[in-house]
Amino acid sequence: MLSAGDMSDLALFVSKGQVDMAKHIDYTAKKPKGNAAKGEVYFNTLCAGCHGKDGKKVKDAPALGSVASNPQEMLHKVLNGQPGESMPAMRALDIQISLDLVAHLQTLPKE
Ligand code: HEC
Repeated sequence: MLSAGDMSDLALFVSKGQVDMAKHIDYTAKKPKGNAAKGEVYFNTLCAGCHGKDGKKVKDAPALGSVASNPQEMLHKVLNGQPGESMPAMRALDIQISLDLVAHLQTLPKE
């Protein structure tokens, strides 16, 4: 059963939260339409505190570089956070910044 709060979150996501991924990601190349160098600046200030500049600091989680080949999932997690984890939703960022971040994730070490 969903709580009232969960229902409200779900309704908000369905009505306002959806993103047309095909506009932002080249599915064939598996690349976001973003700039990795710009994303690095945001990553190092907003994300590296938890993830480390190399994306490997969260214990019991795969290196971010090792999962970044799935840009749709990465974009989804940047926008919405990771359920049950301290990973925050970064909705307040412009979509282009999120795409730049995902492009940067693809440059991080895989292990
Ligand atoms: C407060 C700490 C914190 C901050 C800040 C944070 N994250 Fe996370 N992030 C986490 C945790 C914890 C997880 C869950 C790791 C796990 O167990 O899979 C996570 C998961 C993720 C995942 C999913 C990885 C996977 O295995 O699917 C991505 C992608 C991600 N973070 C990207 C980012 C980006 C990009 C930023 C900055 C815009 C950011 N995170 C900021 C803590 C944080």
